[in-house]
Amino acid sequence: MAARGVGLLTRLSLCSRRSPAQRPVFRPSSSAGPAAVELRGEEQPPGGEGPGTDDKTPKKRFSEVQKERREQAQRTVLIHCSNKINERKFLNYLSQHGPIKNHFFYESFGLYALVEFCQKDAVDSLWNRSQTPSLSTEAVIPFRSRFFSFKLRNPSGQGSGQPCVKMSNQLPPKSRKLFDILYYAESVDDQLNSLLKEFELTEENTKLRYLTCSLIEDIAAAYFPDCTVRPFGSSVNTFGKLGCDLDMFLDLDGFKTQTTNKNIGNFWMEFQVKSVPSERIATQKILSVIGECLDHFGPGCVGVQKILNARCPLVRFSHQPSGFQCDLTTNNRIALKSSELLYIYGALDSRVRALVFSIRHWARTHSLTSNIPGAWITNFSLTMMVIFFLQRRSPPILPTLDSLKSLAGTEDKCVIEGNNCTFLSDLNKIKPSGNTETLELLLKEFFEYFGNFAFNKNSINIRQGKEQNKPDSSPLYIENPFETSLNISKNVSQGQVQRFVDMARESAWILDQDNRVSSEDRPWGLAALLMPSTNIKSRKRSKSKPASERVRSLLESIKQGNTVVPDSTDGKRTMGTQT
Ligand code: GTP
Ligand code: MG
Repeated sequence: MAARGVGLLTRLSLCSRRSPAQRPVFRPSSSAGPAAVELRGEEQPPGGEGPGTDDKTPKKRFSEVQKERREQAQRTVLIHCSNKINERKFLNYLSQHGPIKNHFFYESFGLYALVEFCQKDAVDSLWNRSQTPSLSTEAVIPFRSRFFSFKLRNPSGQGSGQPCVKMSNQLPPKSRKLFDILYYAESVDDQLNSLLKEFELTEENTKLRYLTCSLIEDIAAAYFPDCTVRPFGSSVNTFGKLGCDLDMFLDLDGFKTQTTNKNIGNFWMEFQVKSVPSERIATQKILSVIGECLDHFGPGCVGVQKILNARCPLVRFSHQPSGFQCDLTTNNRIALKSSELLYIYGALDSRVRALVFSIRHWARTHSLTSNIPGAWITNFSLTMMVIFFLQRRSPPILPTLDSLKSLAGTEDKCVIEGNNCTFLSDLNKIKPSGNTETLELLLKEFFEYFGNFAFNKNSINIRQGKEQNKPDSSPLYIENPFETSLNISKNVSQGQVQRFVDMARESAWILDQDNRVSSEDRPWGLAALLMPSTNIKSRKRSKSKPASERVRSLLESIKQGNTVVPDSTDGKRTMGTQT
């Protein structure tokens, strides 16, 4: 069948909401569990969950959020509990050490509790009163951390075998639930916002991420007492979804700062240190030792892999109690700056995150992104494409990086390894966009824009927000915002770009059809785009069949559970091939 050119599509008005007559407006009881609803509304997080949703509250700077979360994590402990736990007795016992600010239970290879005390002293008290276990058959490594086990003296006498505490969910919704939510949504805009709500990191999950970094920092501090382990990437840039990996980096810059401050007067003292021929070798040596340490002493750290020959050397491991797949790097300040930039873009307009989440989900469903490193587009690149697209709207929805740089004050000045990473950090100073386009329109226009983009000759560049000639023949060229001579999508093959273009065109076509044909009883809007590619293709092939037949076959496919997105984590991982 001849490919349908997107340019031929009739432009329909996409701004209208669907009438209630067209679409059932009730929500199935399974669509949002009461526990999930309650937990999400539990408290106001330091960073505010999903900045940009309430335009009136001042938005915190990225650095403020990082600082507050870090301090919160230092007052927090992780406790493995027995299934027979009695919540009241558990909390009573712990409060002997100091008042508890917050706690929640969750399951991940067992039952765990995250407990946040009001003061750090309480953690020290608990630490001092805890003991190293003595096992009868195995020897223990007596490493003491803030990851504890809560033991019952008389387990048989307490409670039933099933945990009777309320659990906080740490996983994304199942396909079926997502399908229901999308099907019963009132409009495409509602669908995109609902997907965001279901997949975005919860307050609890965010706390668990910062706590995990804090626990890893305690381990690294055995060697480097002033180090900091900082999360970056989707865990902190507001584009992370439940189940995404935890990127963290070991920041040893504290040492350098101290040295500079102490160089006063005619004399000074220096530490005796070993030197190695390059920064890269230093990084490899440090990560190698930390990797060994995590492997041998790190409670809950399993499957440690040292990937030291990658362009950006890293240690990858699973942190079993949190359930996170972790990547630990060092010297990665530029990546932290990228996270801050994405945080600002995510906070500037509430449409940004909704669009990015849906497009990432769409890409994962059609295997345009993958868990395995390779020639695929990455989530990071996809996010850059959405930002670029939003800079190209008229009027623009997002400012260019150059304009954020021009707004920067002296306190924002930042140069990392010779790269100018300066941009405004106070997002309250950025004027909101006058653009009022709906998410529905933006979604369709995104597919049209990239379905027709001249990938063969143009590059994508969020610094200037305009298409430019590609400096080399890479099939996809997305300029690294801070290291401007580099292409963040250098790994992407011509075949993958073509698949992306084809899927974008198909999706624009489907959205267009949606507006013409009554979509009663079949996946519509975003749900129709999240059907596996084979279903989309057969839908196109069978478009000459009578509508009733098409509806029947689609319903059949829903019944078989073939619809909507895999439950696995999002496509990822280019740290090894990072450019
Ligand atoms: P997820 O897929 O949800 O994990 O998204 P992510 O943004 O966390 O991506 P990933 O884990 O692959 O990378 C973590 C961070 O590293 C990104 O947010 C970027 O800041 C940075 N990064 C990833 N890939 C590249 C790349 O190819 N080039 C550069 N310069 N930075 C990258
Ligand atoms: Mg990541």
